[in-house]
Amino acid sequence: MKKRVSARILSQREMENGIFDLWLNPMEPGFAEAVSPGQFVGVYTKDRSKLLPRPISICEVSGDRSSLRLVYRRGGTNTGTYSLSLLDGQTCGTVDILGPLGNGFPVEKGKGKKTLIIGGGIGIPPLVELSKRLEARNQIVIGYRDRTQTFLARDLEDHGKLFLATEDGSRGTKGNVVDAVRENQLGADIIYACGPMPMLRAVKALAAELKIPAYISLEEHMACGVGACLGCVVKTKEVHPHTNVNNARICTDGPVFEADQVEI
Ligand SMILES: Cc1cc2nc3c(=O)[nH]c(=O)nc-3n(C[C@H](O)[C@H](O)[C@H](O)COP(=O)(O)OP(=O)(O)OC[C@H]3O[C@@H](n4cnc5c(N)ncnc54)[C@H](O)[C@@H]3O)c2cc1C
Ligand code: FES
Repeated sequence: MKKRVSARILSQREMENGIFDLWLNPMEPGFAEAVSPGQFVGVYTKDRSKLLPRPISICEVSGDRSSLRLVYRRGGTNTGTYSLSLLDGQTCGTVDILGPLGNGFPVEKGKGKKTLIIGGGIGIPPLVELSKRLEARNQIVIGYRDRTQTFLARDLEDHGKLFLATEDGSRGTKGNVVDAVRENQLGADIIYACGPMPMLRAVKALAAELKIPAYISLEEHMACGVGACLGCVVKTKEVHPHTNVNNARICTDGPVFEADQVEI
């Protein structure tokens, strides 16, 4: 059940150039506990000129299930994420969040199986909680631009066998995440992925070729985040049961979809 709640800022730090690591303690009993991997929150920045919440994936839930970790990329100086990055626990104790939003990854389908967890760039954060919960033989493939980016690689290493790809070949496979899957001849029972749209298209094609079921998280542009504005529609193979059209709203029906059910 989604709610707008106030959350205490426990800590915030720049983990690497422009990438921020934020721990929040929602002041609503059971909020963090209810989160499933792949869900997101809408974060209201304190900049009054920016009314819409910014959709940010839940990267991790604390061991005691009381707090949430968000990892996000800061935009330019006039963006909501820029004002968010200026907050810290000492000076500005709380921030409002709306959530938990969306439908996450189907964890139960991968439990005990051989999984392929694929992430690119700022699509990597939700994969941390996912790989933690899977209790499976995880193979995790993540892609960065170059060797200067390593965010969350250490965290993911604790939950599976990690493979890297960089566009310039400075670490791991030279190329994209699909090149890394091929180079390492990785097979799996199920694929989970989150990242930029070109990466998700390549993962969808790979899954079809290898005949492996795949679940992809579409982190597209959003406005209301709660299904009201139709600003996040994706074409689907099946007709939607309520609207009778081949459309789904990423914010409420997704962001995770079965890859062969969406046209991307
Ligand atoms: C389900 C989901 C999960 C996401 N998870 C993360 C994450 O974990 N870490 C992270 O860094 N980014 C994530 N994003 C992308 C993030 O929401 C945008 O980068 C962010 O909203 C941009 O806001 P801004 O204040 O920097 O830019 P602004 O230019 O101030 O944003 C203007 C408006 O456009 C929307 N918007 C702009 N870019 C995007 C985008 N790429 N996706 C969705 N809405 C956008 C904003 O919500 C806002 O309403 C996620 C997006 C979605 C949809
Ligand atoms: S963002 Fe408004 S309907 Fe999805």
